[in-house]
Amino acid sequence: MDGLMKVLTVVGARPQFIKAATVSRAFAALNRSQGQEVVNERIVHTGQHYDANMSKVFFDELEIPPPAINLEVGSGSHGRQTAAMLERLESIIVEQAPDWVLIYGDTNSTLAGALAAVKVHIPVAHVEAGLRSYNRAMPEEINRLVADSVSTLLFCPTQTAVDNLRKEGVTRGVHLVGDVMYDSVLFNTSLARRKSDVLARLNLEPRSFFLATIHRAENTDDPERLAGILQALRETRTRIVLPLHPRTRKTLGDGLRRLSPKVQIVDPVPYLDMLMLESNARVILTDSGGVQKEAYWFGVPCVTLRDETEWVELIACGSNRLAGADPVAIGEAVRWAEEAAAAMRQRKRVDLYGDGKSAEKIVARLMDSR
Ligand code: UD1
Ligand code: UDP
Repeated sequence: MDGLMKVLTVVGARPQFIKAATVSRAFAALNRSQGQEVVNERIVHTGQHYDANMSKVFFDELEIPPPAINLEVGSGSHGRQTAAMLERLESIIVEQAPDWVLIYGDTNSTLAGALAAVKVHIPVAHVEAGLRSYNRAMPEEINRLVADSVSTLLFCPTQTAVDNLRKEGVTRGVHLVGDVMYDSVLFNTSLARRKSDVLARLNLEPRSFFLATIHRAENTDDPERLAGILQALRETRTRIVLPLHPRTRKTLGDGLRRLSPKVQIVDPVPYLDMLMLESNARVILTDSGGVQKEAYWFGVPCVTLRDETEWVELIACGSNRLAGADPVAIGEAVRWAEEAAAAMRQRKRVDLYGDGKSAEKIVARLMDSR
């Protein structure tokens, strides 16, 4: 290997910190193994997520190198938020002249990183490329389509993602590497068992509770869908722990009081606490992308509060059911999940998302493709 590879990582939202942590660790491991700095990574935080429990806690707990720069764009409409990121990112990318701009997932920070870089002719590498919901009303779907179309390296977590890209005529630069979130779960689960006291703090016995998360715009911004989901939660007889995303807290406002006492609302939790909650839940209900997969890795049945999912292999293998936002459909799916729970914990799981060495593969490809 010759010369220093400069990588500018752009992140801004909770799941991106978790994904980037794994790749940053792989960069550091490569430098250690070479006995010198062969990769220089600088992290730019757009500031899309800024509450301590949506941002700082992940940098601290996962020992992510502190961001070199925080653009502090904060919240706003899609256009405003993305524009603020673009404007600030452009000068930083020009000034730093990295070999790669590295982006993750499908948020507005992903979109801004991709556009800012490609316009100044810096190649873009996209981790979690090729995912599609085929629902263009989702902001994430537009972000993915644009990011993938301008990326030089497209790191796909699944064969389905590779196939999706092929259907769009994209085969160059496409690499099936597995899912960095799987690397992350393998690395952090035993740490979580040692370090997290969330079960004791919330007085939770393993398998005695459901875990729920809700934050997707299609649910929070549609009063009918949100009401349907809340009704389903109210009607569930089991205790539900609901770490509430700030977006949903804001939308619900006073409505939070109308939830049944069975629904225990807590602030967003740190990642290690989340892994403990997930791995000890009887059933998970979620509209999150990452949480659907984590449910699978922990052998916990998942009821997905959406009409479609990008993680179609979870549906195919029978560990996840789409229930949308209709209380009757959610109720039925919960009954299925309750019945499936014990058997699912025992079931041998196939590696749908790679072998846990996704980050290493990404780093190797970046080094090779300079
Ligand atoms: C974003 C991503 C979504 C991802 C999610 C992960 C986009 C379009 N959406 O959604 O794909 O699944 O992050 O969590 O990029 N807020 C706070 N404090 C914060 C952050 C947000 O109060 O630290 C509130 C604000 O009222 C804000 C709202 O949450 O307007 C939504 O935040 P935003 O980052 O725009 O979208 P998310 O719903 O978080
Ligand atoms: N997560 C967390 N604390 C929480 C909720 C989620 O650490 O209170 C983690 C979760 O374990 C997963 C990631 O955040 O690794 C998923 O992020 P989110 O649901 O916000 O976004 P999505 O995956 O839907 O884009």
